[in-house]
Amino acid sequence: MSYIEIKNIYKIFGPHPQKALTMAQNGENKDDILAKTGHTVGLQNVSLSIDQGETFVVMGLSGSGKSTLIRHLNRLIDPTAGEILFGGENILQMTTPRLNAFRRAKLGMVFQRFGLLPHRSVIENVAYGLKIQKTDKAERLKSARTWIERVGLAGYEDSFPDQLSGGMQQRVGLARALTTNPEVLLMDEAFSALDPLIRSDMQDELMKLQSELHKTIIFITHDLDEALKLGDRIAILKDGALMQVGRPEEIIMNPADDYVRAFTRDVNRSRVLRAKTLMQPTSTGNDTPANTTGWPEVDANMRLEDILPIAIACPDGISVVNRDHQKIGTLSKDQIIAALAA
Ligand SMILES: Nc1ncnc2c1ncn2[C@@H]1O[C@H](COP(=O)(O)OP(=O)(O)OP(=O)(O)O)[C@@H](O)[C@H]1O
Ligand SMILES: [Mg+2]
Repeated sequence: MSYIEIKNIYKIFGPHPQKALTMAQNGENKDDILAKTGHTVGLQNVSLSIDQGETFVVMGLSGSGKSTLIRHLNRLIDPTAGEILFGGENILQMTTPRLNAFRRAKLGMVFQRFGLLPHRSVIENVAYGLKIQKTDKAERLKSARTWIERVGLAGYEDSFPDQLSGGMQQRVGLARALTTNPEVLLMDEAFSALDPLIRSDMQDELMKLQSELHKTIIFITHDLDEALKLGDRIAILKDGALMQVGRPEEIIMNPADDYVRAFTRDVNRSRVLRAKTLMQPTSTGNDTPANTTGWPEVDANMRLEDILPIAIACPDGISVVNRDHQKIGTLSKDQIIAALAA
């Protein structure tokens, strides 16, 4: 069982959801259900398994149900039907004190509009979660200082939010979420309000932190490039229903339907596809053909954008090697061009 299990969640918005729920369970679509019942389908039979330490991205157009989904994970919203388990525990059955303790101990949240307390300094904002947990003052300030430094804001401890740029404010938001050492970070469009260069910096910062911290991150975005960059796996929602769940290269190489394909059309494929996705595997028991001698070697995880110059310089072919420098496959220039052109 995965760390987070979302099982057959339906969310119907409106005063008498039962009829609409039955219609949704019978597969009627969101528009018809709205027309016939006046109720909005927020989520339609969504099931997901999310592993500990995974960066799991949820994406989809506006109104597809992304925020509705993430709000179920901290129970800002309860489902009309379905179950949600964290580490085997059904969070829908938690009593209020248990739920509050669970939220404080396990969840950290980063919001699109930063959500900082305007009349408190950076360090007070970052230490706030520990204050709620009644951590002793010296200890919480020490911890806050560490995280402020970790997100690159050392020196700004006593500044106020309105004295910082958007990117800096979101660094504060990130530090605040991390200070309580949560297992899970919930990030709803956390970088969407930032301009492109700052946004890209924040993505890099998050990836760097994640490579050290190994949190379980649920990251919501409507931007496929962001999803592909950050996500170990990506779930794509449409009208409250899951269209596809997969690793970035799976989404790009095998989009499940036209909706997903439309998303992937403008993606820079060379940035997503890796040597291991495209290579011709060296079959076991069958020695590498002798003619690969002299071919350059690339790591299986190398992206096409970095392989391309090598392929141009060495038109015969490229050997793909694993971490132990064993040859596991080959790549030809034609294969690369075909993948980029698809
Ligand atoms: N509190 C609510 N009451 C009624 N309908 C709601 C409520 N919250 C969400 N909805 C509806 O549920 C659907 C999903 O909304 P949601 O906010 O989850 O979308 P989203 O994917 O987060 O969109 P965005 O990218 O614009 O943030 C929409 O049709 C929305 O109108
Ligand atoms: Mg939203």
